[in-house]
Amino acid sequence: MSQCRICNQTTHQVIHFGKMPIANGFLRELDEKEFLFDMSVAFCPQCFMVQLEETVKPEMMFNDNYQFVSSTSNAMAIHFEGIAQEIAGKVADKQDPFIVELGCNDGIMLKHIAAKGIHHLGIEPSSNVAAMARKNKVEVTEKFFNAATAQEIVQEHGQADVLCGSNVFCHIEDINSVFEGASILLKDDGVLFFEDPYLLDIVQKSSFDQIYDEHVYYYSGLSVQALAQRHGLQLVDMVHQDVHGGSMRYYIQKGSDKNISQNVNDGIAAEKEWQLHQTEGYEAFKTKVDQICKDLKQTLKDIKQQKNRIVAYGATSKSTTLLNYAQIGPDLIEYICDTTPNKINKYTPGTHIPIKSYDAFLADDARNTLLLAWNHKKEIFAKEKSYREKGGKFITYFPEVVVE
Ligand code: TMP
Repeated sequence: MSQCRICNQTTHQVIHFGKMPIANGFLRELDEKEFLFDMSVAFCPQCFMVQLEETVKPEMMFNDNYQFVSSTSNAMAIHFEGIAQEIAGKVADKQDPFIVELGCNDGIMLKHIAAKGIHHLGIEPSSNVAAMARKNKVEVTEKFFNAATAQEIVQEHGQADVLCGSNVFCHIEDINSVFEGASILLKDDGVLFFEDPYLLDIVQKSSFDQIYDEHVYYYSGLSVQALAQRHGLQLVDMVHQDVHGGSMRYYIQKGSDKNISQNVNDGIAAEKEWQLHQTEGYEAFKTKVDQICKDLKQTLKDIKQQKNRIVAYGATSKSTTLLNYAQIGPDLIEYICDTTPNKINKYTPGTHIPIKSYDAFLADDARNTLLLAWNHKKEIFAKEKSYREKGGKFITYFPEVVVE
């Protein structure tokens, strides 16, 4: 039993995964000592937040060795350019607007704002990716955002018209301080928007691999509405995004008298239909997760028994949860190919599967590939048309195991 990080209420445990390594803790050598933590998620019946029970210190995950680089997917590059265009549209009629992005990573979004000459600031504690953002002509400060940082930014730059973050609000344990910081940093007519993997997608697809050390919170309209209210803010809109396996973008403003979009009412109604506001909504989730793991492992074993080789595609952060929880290791998967240069020639956390370059996959004649980057399926299926035409199969597993 644990206490909710937002409102201190006693939470209900949803799934206990046991000991897990850091999702992006790729190993250089097989005998490196690995840090493990006890991973479980719980639901708060008072403020509806689904959250990790035990967390890992941010410095252990977001440091100068952070392996996740945003600009590895074309679809994501296009998605982030779209966000930049939306922001530019929002501030088009403002005098000297100021845009702040939390977790700007390599500048995938802010570089478009910088190119338009708009006053901006990226907040990025991982110095290796912050350096990449600077190369993209983005102004960056290497800090964690909270109420104190918000004060400093206001003193140096003034208040902001837009505060945003993609796949970063779910990373921040002290999210109360971020929302407090948002009320300090934003102008009265400013807007905070952020997007993260959507809890309803996770429950509907059983995509439990979204649960890992970096994701402290699994947001829904229900929980964001309650969180905003705590800080004198208001959830005014929510728009579904077809990225990262299903995400939600939440729009938040100061005050309590703003017009609320129908999207918010509809979204919350759908969440209530799936009972995400009560413990019952989470009971079937664990059963489905365990069934998927069992089916996937059996499918891989069957392929191996028929003397076929299996490789995998995309050494994603989330695959750390899948591979460790389902206990899928190098006995089943020969290697994982990935296009991220600093993952190549390393080993997966906990399961120790070697990671090879994309060229190794192209040169290979393996015909069974576990699609770990399942959230990029559309892009990858388009890219690997000839692999599939030659009889190559991809194995996917949400909401059920399919070999296609
Ligand atoms: P993500 O799911 O967290 O965005 O991570 C995607 C991972 O998959 C990242 O390590 C890059 C890799 N990847 C490839 O290797 N090839 C591809 O075509 C795509 C889209 C991703």
